[in-house]
Amino acid sequence: MKTAVSLWDSDEPVSRAELLKGVAGAHGLLCLLSDKIDTEVLDAAGPNLKVISTLSVGFDHMAMDEIKKRGVRVGYTPDVLTDATAELTVALLLATARRLPEGMVEVINGGWSTWKPLWLCGYGLSGSTVGVIGLGRIGMAIARRLKPFGVKKLLYSGRTDKSYAAEVEGEYVPLDTLVSESDFVVVSCALTPDTQGLCNKHFFCKMKNTAVFINTSRGAVVNQEDLYQALSSGQIACAGLDVTTPEPLPTDHPLLTLKNCVVLPHIGSATYSTRGIMAELSANNLLAGLQGTDMPSELKF
Ligand code: NDP
Ligand code: DGY
Repeated sequence: MKTAVSLWDSDEPVSRAELLKGVAGAHGLLCLLSDKIDTEVLDAAGPNLKVISTLSVGFDHMAMDEIKKRGVRVGYTPDVLTDATAELTVALLLATARRLPEGMVEVINGGWSTWKPLWLCGYGLSGSTVGVIGLGRIGMAIARRLKPFGVKKLLYSGRTDKSYAAEVEGEYVPLDTLVSESDFVVVSCALTPDTQGLCNKHFFCKMKNTAVFINTSRGAVVNQEDLYQALSSGQIACAGLDVTTPEPLPTDHPLLTLKNCVVLPHIGSATYSTRGIMAELSANNLLAGLQGTDMPSELKF
């Protein structure tokens, strides 16, 4: 069988117009998390479409109900990016809590006068309570990495209790308990209608004034206006975000004016080897979907 491939050969995202044109009549589509796969794209593809393979584990950019209705299979990239994302989350947590970006700026701009007892003090993990919202693949990998820092208590919340949490002595608690008792709140849940805007004014009001907030899931889990208020009023100590709404975050966004907010450009899975493995997996998912065989990682929904 002869196969025609329409390829967007750039690291920059495909424009909407090019995507709609390129997908017309396609049997398979390999997309990124920045491509919104909605009814318009599915209609543009038409009835030939058998498989969508996304180069991501998150699938909140795809209209799953509509995709299911049309009997289209979906491939994604779980597991292979778990370690890289957990590692980045730990790096972001430490950088935020110990104020690394602020310290680097002071070295460069001459703000470093001498060693001072209280200058650039932050918060440490030793003896702390860490709360993980969404103890899934990545949440668990974060917990495993944080425990050896001397974390005293590991709390987690989600829809269900996890037996595997025993490995990190994780305690399943209601969200309110997690938020009010944690010194570090780490968000690693999926973005769903239930988690959209979960971290809002009420959430931040319950956090300790000394608590550190970290989000490496999706930007829309956080109400950013409420986060700005919480950070600028001292309601919480600091925040580290790898994900925002929108992406990229406009350079004049209020969050970027705050010293106690560290923002990264969605680089959780960005190691050379992880991205290579994700690419291979998503290509194999696509091929299996086209051939009607078992996919290495098919999303069951
Ligand atoms: P998993 O499906 O393994 O974990 C998702 C977790 O979300 C589950 O533990 C689930 O808990 C939890 N969850 C779902 N609904 C709720 C809810 N209402 N309240 C609290 N928790 C909830 O996925 P992964 O760990 O592999 O990935 C998690 C997310 O991380 C992805 O969806 C993606 O958005 C993001 N991600 C970000 C990256 C980055 O670059 N920053 C890289 C990779 C992923 P339960 O099982 O109890 O329902
Ligand atoms: C995902 O896979 O969902 C991440 O956000 C990027 O790797």
